[in-house]
Amino acid sequence: MTLGPVLVFDSGVGGLSVVAALRGRLPGAALAYVCDNAMLPYGLREDAWLVRRILAVCEAAVAASGCVALVVACNTASTLALDALRERLRIPVVGTVPAIKPAAAHSRSRHIGLLATSATVSRPYTQHLIETYAADCVVRRVAADALVREAERRLAGEPSDPGVIEAALAPLWEDPELDTVVLGCTHFPLLRDALAAAAPRAVAWVDSSDAIARRTAQVAAGVTLAAGPGPSLATAPDPALAAALARFGFAAPRPLVID
Ligand code: DGL
Repeated sequence: MTLGPVLVFDSGVGGLSVVAALRGRLPGAALAYVCDNAMLPYGLREDAWLVRRILAVCEAAVAASGCVALVVACNTASTLALDALRERLRIPVVGTVPAIKPAAAHSRSRHIGLLATSATVSRPYTQHLIETYAADCVVRRVAADALVREAERRLAGEPSDPGVIEAALAPLWEDPELDTVVLGCTHFPLLRDALAAAAPRAVAWVDSSDAIARRTAQVAAGVTLAAGPGPSLATAPDPALAAALARFGFAAPRPLVID
């Protein structure tokens, strides 16, 4: 029987926002991390290119890490490439999709916001989620790509820029009844306190990390997980990324080379 870690994949540091939930559900299991930070941000990339890139990165990282399951901790990648990944890889693949369903369940006013990348807010997959789970809600979709860099900067130890955060959130507040905001990009929970501080009133911020961890634990029940630390990999390793990964218990990233 093959033993291996669970591999967490994102374009950058966003996947780190699901690590605590994963460790909570899979105590002691080895987690590995891979990010395609050479090509960040994914949210502004063209779809066909992105599918090819995601397949290439995940295939290489699965081989390099020896993982037994893959968590695509990226809404932008999942809403586009989950089917292709499942077809290509021989291991279970858990995806991340915007938490429209829990947000709709939580909202009293039936006015919710979706804060995500440009790609995610405009995907048919997202439209389908809204029609399926929030058909009776007014959903305000806000593309907030600037917050991806903001989260990367924060994890690199740089101060947040309140002006960038306020400008990114501003379209949400045009709906005075909005009471719940979906953090539909895994980078955004890393800024949760700054987002809440910039909000003109209290709203609920809902993300997908618990759902991802729950689903990963179900999937992991059918595979044999290694214990202890797993490797980390990046397409552009650098000291700031190594420091961010270290804060989440990962070793310094090794370079992942993509042909
Ligand atoms: N963290 C990613 C997501 O969940 C994408 C960030 C990016 O644009 O690269 O959508």
